[in-house]
Parts: sequence; C-alpha cells; structure tokens
Amino acid sequence: MSVVFKNRLVRWIDHRMPIFSSLHHEMYEYPVPRNLNYLWNFGFLAGLMLIIMIVTGIVLAMHYTPNTTMAFESVERIMRDVNYGWIIRYIHMNGASMFFILVYIHIFRGMYYGSYKAPREILWMLGVVIFFLMIVTAFIGYVLPWGQMSYWGATVITNLFSAIPWVGEDIVTWLWGGFSVDNPTLNRFFALHYLLPFVILGVVFLHVIALHRFGSNNPLGIDMKRPQDSISFHPYYTIKDAFTIGLFLIFFCYFIFFNPNYLGHPDNYIPADPLVTPAHIVPEWYFLPFYAILRAIPSKLGGVLLMGGAIAILFVLPWLDRSPVRSGRFRPMFKWFFALFVINCFVLGYCGANPPEGHFILISRIATAYYFAYFIVILPLLSVLEKPKPLPASISESIYQPKNHLE
Ligand code: HEM
Repeated sequence: MSVVFKNRLVRWIDHRMPIFSSLHHEMYEYPVPRNLNYLWNFGFLAGLMLIIMIVTGIVLAMHYTPNTTMAFESVERIMRDVNYGWIIRYIHMNGASMFFILVYIHIFRGMYYGSYKAPREILWMLGVVIFFLMIVTAFIGYVLPWGQMSYWGATVITNLFSAIPWVGEDIVTWLWGGFSVDNPTLNRFFALHYLLPFVILGVVFLHVIALHRFGSNNPLGIDMKRPQDSISFHPYYTIKDAFTIGLFLIFFCYFIFFNPNYLGHPDNYIPADPLVTPAHIVPEWYFLPFYAILRAIPSKLGGVLLMGGAIAILFVLPWLDRSPVRSGRFRPMFKWFFALFVINCFVLGYCGANPPEGHFILISRIATAYYFAYFIVILPLLSVLEKPKPLPASISESIYQPKNHLE
C-alpha cells in the first residue's frame, strides 16, 4: 500500500528517495505480535545504549591521549578539567555495564522463548556476532585508561594466544606490536576501539533486517496467522519502549550519579606499572563467567579453547535444540534446565570473581561442565524425550479464550 504524505517537501524527497515510505511501512504496516511482554523491549534499549556509547565515546576521544605516558593523566584531566567531562566518562564507563546487562537479558529472552529457531537462525547468529564484537570492544576499551587493571588485564588476556602451538608466541608479538603490552598496543587498541562500535552498528542494521523478514517471535512461540494476532509497531510498541527507556534511565542514573565506581575495580585508579603485578587480576564483571571457564581446567590451551567454545557454541544453538516447540512456556522439562542454566551462569560469574583456589576450582569445573552439557547433551536429548504441552491455535485466541488452551 503506497502512502501519500501531506507535506510537499516530504513528498518531493520521498519520490526521489523513498525513506519516508519505508519508515511508514516499518512503523504502521509492519505487523508485530500483540502479545509481546516487556522482555521484548530489551533489543530497543540495547540499540539506544549503543548510540549513547558511540556519542559519549566520540566526545571522550576528543580529550583522550593514546600514549602510555599521557593516557592515565588525560583521563584524569577529563574527570577534573574538561567541562562535564566527569559525566561523559561516567556515562561511558557505566554504559558498558548497562549495555551488557541489557544484552544478556536479550540473549536469555531469546533462549527461553526459542527465538533462535527456524526461520530466525541468521537473526540469532548475527546476534552472536554482535555479542562477540561487544566483548572485544569492551576488552580493548578497558585498556585505554592505562590503569593497573588495564595493563595487567591486557597482558594476561593477550598472552592467552601464546597457548596456540607453534605460532602462539608470534601471534602475541604481532598483537602487541612489540615484545610487551606497550605504546604500540595502546595505540592500536584505541584505533580499534573507535572503529568497532561502527562495525557493531552495521551488524545491528543487518540484525534488524533479518528480524523484519519474519517479524518478532512472541511469548507463545507460535506464528502470526490472523490479522487480529498483530498490531502496528507505532504507537503501541513505541509508547511501550518509551516507558521502559524511562525506567532504564532511572536505573542507569543511579550508577552515574550515586555509585559511579561500584561496577569498576579500584586498582584501575592506580597508573599502570609493568613492575608491580596486582594481587588479583580480575576482568570486568560481564566477563567473569567466561573467565571462570578459562581457569576451570589446569591446561592453558584447554582453557582458551573452552572459553572460545563457550561463545562459539551459541552459533550452532539453532541446530542443537531440535524441539518443534519454540517457547519454554510449553516445554515442561526444558524450562527447569533453562532456569538451572541461568543460575549456572551466575555461579560461573561468582567463581570468576574469586581466585582459582580450594572449592572454587571444583565449583567452576562443575559449572563449566553444566554449561556445555546444556548445549551438547540436554537440549538434543530434550528435543527427543520431552512431551510439550498443546499449543494455542493462535495468538488472539490465547488472549481472548485463555482457559481453553493454556494450562
Ligand atoms: C547491540 C546489541 C543488540 C541490539 C541493538 C539488538 C537489537 C535487537 C532488536 C531491536 C530486536 C527487536 C526487539 C526485541 O526483540 O527485543 C532484536 C531481536 C532479536 N535479537 Fe537482538 N540485538 C542485539 C544483540 C543481540 C544478541 C547478542 C543476540 C543473541 C546472541 C540477539 C538475538 C536476537 C534475537 C533472536 C531476536 C529476535 C527476538 C524475537 O523476535 O523473539 N540480539 N534485537
């Protein structure tokens, strides 16, 4: 259906470049399931967070100096002398944590409601690419203030590549641009930290194109069949997204204004010193589950492979879970194993925050085993063994006659 715009200038532009009609199509004609719950707001919030990170990052880059002799001081100058520099930095610093909170909820939502299943496999895999790029971007960003944790975190993690047989050492030298984490490393990390968010933006664009091919999944996990199953994105979901933006900003502002250093490590306020190793080198909280997997087994190469495998396995998730039913709501066994999987991720995070000693070793081994078993053993087995509950005939029916089909 072609739309006629009232404004002449809009009509003139749209005739030559149909951006307004595409926007109109996405907002008013694109059908969205009418039963989406609040968990479907997190993609939008993540997009907002990406924009906030890019804008604040560009302003920070105007005042930051990527040189080992000046980086730490330049950040302190941003905090003390640059007008509103402190707030820009606190937004960016805490924004990274907020971004990961939103994306982790977004991922768990997709896992519970089976949003990765056909026909949304590419949408899911693009999400995993985004997640991987976010990890790299956040890791190199943390190196830039050139504090103790920046320096030692970078040293420990880049050194992991040395575990690769034959070429490992050469790869590490190549990554560093020298024989230790030093000025060339800081320079290239800064260049990449500026570049990668734009790459993420590009992949998010593809993510949304893939999303709009079949539209959103929904809490029931069944396809839209009737006109009354869907509503337009605008104004129904724009207003719902606006509401959660408000809630999210209150949460975000608490950290920015009342507890800006809560999520960080105090050692990063000590300038990097290659001669003094901190007692415990810990990454930012959002890496802790992966850090626990890395240290779960005594072999360096094995740990590196397991940690890489923990992310890589997400790519093939659509093919590991073969159950024909998408939503966890109708999967009586799956929902318990999934709940355990989420708890297990927190347990891994807790182990990652503690030194790999005593009972933490055993717990992180069990938790790592469950992490992989969930994907490789439990999901494929459930696909065969589980008897799903009957699905409602349609989205609208489940809303108007809930007793007939649910429970
Ligand atoms: C910068 C990060 C990301 C942004 C901005 C983003 C954006 C979005 C948006 C706007 C939606 C539609 C709204 C919604 O369903 O919440 C969406 C859906 C989706 N995203 Fe993401 N996403 C990001 C990361 C990820 C990651 C890391 C994954 C998985 C590993 C992922 C998987 C999905 C899936 C499966 C859907 C479809 C959900 C459904 O229809 O049920 N996304 N994303």
